[in-house]
Amino acid sequence: MREKLQLLEQRRAASEQGGGAARLKAQHDKGKLSARERLDVLLDEGTFVELDRFVTHRSEDFGLAEQRPYGDGVVTGSGRIDGRLVYVFSQDFTVFGGSLSEAHAEKVCKVMDLAVRNGAPMIGLNDSGGARIQEGVVSLGGYAEIFLRNTLASGVVPQISAILGPCAGGAVYSPAITDFVFMTRGTSYMFVTGPNVVKTVTHEDVTMEALGGADAHGGTSGVSHFTSGSELECLESIRTLFRYVPSNNVDAPPRGRGTDPRDRKDEALLDLVPDSPNKPYDMHDVLRRVIDDGEFLEVQRDYAANIICGFAHLGGFSVGIVANQPAVLAGCLDINASVKAARFIRFCDAFNIPIVTFEDVPGFLPGVAQEHGGIIKHGAKLLYAYCEATVPKLTVITRKAYGGAYDVMSSKHIRGDFNVAWPTAEIAVMGPKGAVEILFKKEIAESADPVAATDAKVAEYAAKFANPYVAASRGYVDDIIDPRDTRPRLIDALETLQGKRDRNPPKKHGNIPL
Ligand code: HXC
Repeated sequence: MREKLQLLEQRRAASEQGGGAARLKAQHDKGKLSARERLDVLLDEGTFVELDRFVTHRSEDFGLAEQRPYGDGVVTGSGRIDGRLVYVFSQDFTVFGGSLSEAHAEKVCKVMDLAVRNGAPMIGLNDSGGARIQEGVVSLGGYAEIFLRNTLASGVVPQISAILGPCAGGAVYSPAITDFVFMTRGTSYMFVTGPNVVKTVTHEDVTMEALGGADAHGGTSGVSHFTSGSELECLESIRTLFRYVPSNNVDAPPRGRGTDPRDRKDEALLDLVPDSPNKPYDMHDVLRRVIDDGEFLEVQRDYAANIICGFAHLGGFSVGIVANQPAVLAGCLDINASVKAARFIRFCDAFNIPIVTFEDVPGFLPGVAQEHGGIIKHGAKLLYAYCEATVPKLTVITRKAYGGAYDVMSSKHIRGDFNVAWPTAEIAVMGPKGAVEILFKKEIAESADPVAATDAKVAEYAAKFANPYVAASRGYVDDIIDPRDTRPRLIDALETLQGKRDRNPPKKHGNIPL
């Protein structure tokens, strides 16, 4: 027995060698951790349980018969984050560039199946050159097996992807199906085809960073949700996300650990909204003063900043916050903002996280580029996402709620559970100036002093419609509240809604306008 144990120890040690010391040094020299070091940072200490460490590839061609490293370029298994079970795979770039073979794919699929079966989140640490070229169609098949599992697991368990190296080809489509993509500046890249292929096909000269770096995907394409300055920061922020999300679609989200008093009123909320309706303010200031301890985990912070999405705790309840941002594009809804918020809302709805909406929106963004870009179908995504969501939906109108955007942003009519307005709210088909120019066009043109005539009509319209009382008189908002009471009122509503039961009609699936 002792001899056999010795052999086992030798093989275990060999399985942890990866692609050898030189390649590991190259990995470290680039500022990257090894596959196993990443798991040490991600998981609670000592909780990693490895599976399939002795798996090897089955290829004979292109010199592969002579190289059969244990594990085949990916470390898989389970571990704990804050004591909660998660399944993980961590690709090892030092072994054939982390490329995906048949055996490598089978290992990934095994942990994905276990994650779904046991109701635990799936976290992929990606560092891969894509399909293993030597294996041909077999590795393509392996990717397809993973894509299928990503799709079937969507909405069942949270799926997280960290991009920690150059991820090309198939290595980007699996992360794209998952719920959240994390990238690091300077070391992680995502592209379907790299700079060389781009140069050949389109004659464009572009660097890896500019084509598919963390800032390109965090700020321009919107493919990535969280950008970090280092791998350590990136892995730590994955752990932070789990403070807000449940393990699966049946469990409740974790409660916050803060000590912020539930009945805290914030005086500063009285003065945040400027008197002039055209003056911007930063909606983050409102959010921070309402949520527990001001702690907000913002999703896609650098993309479509005219809408803010993120997680917080409110009275200890985990919530997803969607808020118009008057400081960017006056808070208008455009294509990118609609898509960003729609996907976030669908995540929250799938995982039992109540949605709290803070509304100050003048409408959808006008313009040829928006119309031709499909603002109709993209705006409809946001509408669809809010309409189909059955989790508790709470809305605070801080200022403007105009036009279609009033309907879209979690209005009472689309099953808003708790809708309140601040006294500064303006709820109408459009702003006073636009309305007056349409309604009184002739009258103003014919008047001796068109400017004075316009001002008089604007004042008349504003007095009648630019307030929350018409909506309140019909019950479209449940109450008009003192801004200082926003936090206690929302917490009270969240408590009331803990037993909410709402279902959509049975169907195979809906057809969200994609
Ligand atoms: C086999 C690979 C590999 C691959 C890299 N390697 N990619 N081996 N299959 N796909 C190996 C290299 O031979 C090298 O081995 C080691 O990994 C490190 O690679 P380098 O090129 O030296 O590293 P680097 O300069 O950092 O460049 C990394 C890279 C580049 C950008 C990822 O290697 C690259 O472009 N690889 C190919 C990417 C690609 O086109 N993949 C196929 C996509 S198609 P040694 O022994 O020298 O250390 C695809 C289809 C799925 O994925 C489609 C589904 C929709």
